[in-house]
Amino acid sequence: TTVEWEAESYDMAGHDTYMHKEITEQADAVDRVLRGRIDDRFATVHLGGLNLDAREARSVRRVKILGCGSAYHAGLIGAQLVEELARIPADAEPASEFRYRNAVVDPDTLYIAVSQSGETYDTLAAVQELKRKGARVLGVVNVVGSAIARETDGGVYVHAGPEICVVSTKCFTNTAVAFALLALHLGRIRDLSVADGKRIISGLRRLPEQIGEIMKLEPEIRKVAAEYAEAKSMMFVGRVRGYPVALEASLKLKEISYIHAEAYPASELKHGPLALIEPAVPTVAVLPEDELIDKNRATLEEIKARSGRILAVAHGEQEQADHTIVVPRNEVELDPILMGIPLQLLAYHTALALGRDIDKPRNLAKSVTVE
Ligand code: AGP
Repeated sequence: TTVEWEAESYDMAGHDTYMHKEITEQADAVDRVLRGRIDDRFATVHLGGLNLDAREARSVRRVKILGCGSAYHAGLIGAQLVEELARIPADAEPASEFRYRNAVVDPDTLYIAVSQSGETYDTLAAVQELKRKGARVLGVVNVVGSAIARETDGGVYVHAGPEICVVSTKCFTNTAVAFALLALHLGRIRDLSVADGKRIISGLRRLPEQIGEIMKLEPEIRKVAAEYAEAKSMMFVGRVRGYPVALEASLKLKEISYIHAEAYPASELKHGPLALIEPAVPTVAVLPEDELIDKNRATLEEIKARSGRILAVAHGEQEQADHTIVVPRNEVELDPILMGIPLQLLAYHTALALGRDIDKPRNLAKSVTVE
């Protein structure tokens, strides 16, 4: 069985689809996940339900994040944030794989289950297996009081509000922000300086306004989407901070437009997928202005040399790209959170141009509560 939202009970507030409503709600949603949690005095955040004291936080040797689909992709952003801000080795893995592979459960690892619904069976099964083996498991969950929220030892609520559309948008963004809060909290207990704590807090506070600026790009993105709706397949690439964004954007496009899409780390293109590049297979490149920007531009050159069309999401015009969606810059660690948003709009307008049933894509349910 699957959990069906009672969509009719939520107002569409003048939007044609829940997806559009939820995309446009993101500035408010991010505001909510931040509200009441920032502590300027100590340049940190308070996470009331974490249930992990400072001594325990210091003894964590590794962080392992588990979730499915978009939750897994948000977890990949989370793992990078934990490594960057708290300097704890961290990675994310699909919960659906983890639960079947008799993973080594390590007492010094902090496990984190990520889920919008809190009811995804694969993620819940991973939590139950971990608990049975004595691990400490936290949740990063949207639905308050859901099964995963109940079975974990503590965690961070994402406060995105109800998400009705089958595909995740505002919850993905809020989950990434929740991970930034968690990483900042862990970092400030460990080795993140006051100055860096303040820098991240100021970046977090800028997010809602910058999301508002990204929303103004919608008419431009609608035009680009009309061009790309003809594509037979699309390639999404990014390096390090850009890669989870590419993965999520590719999933979003597949789910609602049914255009085949692949996501690769930009550095992997030359190891095989470059063979797919041709004019009918455009590339979407996620290019944060970080220490890897020159490497990323070199990748664009490689694609251009194979006559591939390029749509870049970047902090400034990219001369190798056929079109650049220019997004506001935040702190490098937080940029991935913003860069996914124009690509939600790209998937949305591509699906709209193709006449798809956006809120209820074929073969998918909002929450997969079965094996
Ligand atoms: C999101 O666009 C998808 N519908 C899907 O990948 C989803 O993220 C996944 O099934 C996990 O759901 P959850 O967050 O409710 O656990």
